[in-house]
Amino acid sequence: MKIDVFLTAEEVKQKEISNSNVIVIDVLRATSVMVTAIAHGVSKIYPYESIEEVREASLTSSCCILCGERKGLKIEGFDYGNSPLEYQTEKIKNREMFMTTTNGTRALSNIKGKNNKIWIASFLNISTVLSFLEKEEKDCIIVCAGTENHFSLDDALCAGMIIEKLSNYEKTDIALALEQIAKTSINVKESLKNTKHYRYLKSIGLEKDLEFCCHLNTYPLLLEYKRETNSIFAVTK
Ligand code: MLT
Repeated sequence: MKIDVFLTAEEVKQKEISNSNVIVIDVLRATSVMVTAIAHGVSKIYPYESIEEVREASLTSSCCILCGERKGLKIEGFDYGNSPLEYQTEKIKNREMFMTTTNGTRALSNIKGKNNKIWIASFLNISTVLSFLEKEEKDCIIVCAGTENHFSLDDALCAGMIIEKLSNYEKTDIALALEQIAKTSINVKESLKNTKHYRYLKSIGLEKDLEFCCHLNTYPLLLEYKRETNSIFAVTK
């Protein structure tokens, strides 16, 4: 069994993945939002690459909320932005969430190949994802969404913290590199505070989101993404 890592949403597009567990990470903030929204009662999340797709697809739902960001900010006419804190509300209970973000939902759309199971990870549900992977007997590909096609340390650190604990997988060099990064990190927030996307989100006033996304294990949830239905939902294992 092997574990490998793709470092950006763009890299995923170039490659075919098959017979694997695929773990998608966009810590700041798409996958943190997904976990938080489902923890607070959203029934399903439908991720899309473009704003137009969200608008069109949401017409089929009578209980939809339109969610997402461009440049970190809420999209005009949408109900919610991409701040996990916005989703800590009763108002989203049993609603269907139609979502588009710059990197996270694009990474999901870019996954190609057969016989894969796709899962959503963030610091908020990292131990649940880890316990699941420890019991699996399939190859694993971790997809870091990255930021606008560049390597992003926030996703890489989360990936490294997963890889570090998985002793039963053969690790590629990139997996070993991220494991080393995780080993040198004492505190998530401290490790990320000087990174580009962290500083950008801070500069637009989103410091509380950053604090929140850096917490470990706030929600013990396993979320699966099914390509056939383009939907994300909670799974009990
Ligand atoms: C993304 O998917 O690009 C991020 O979630 C962007 C953001 O932090 O809002």
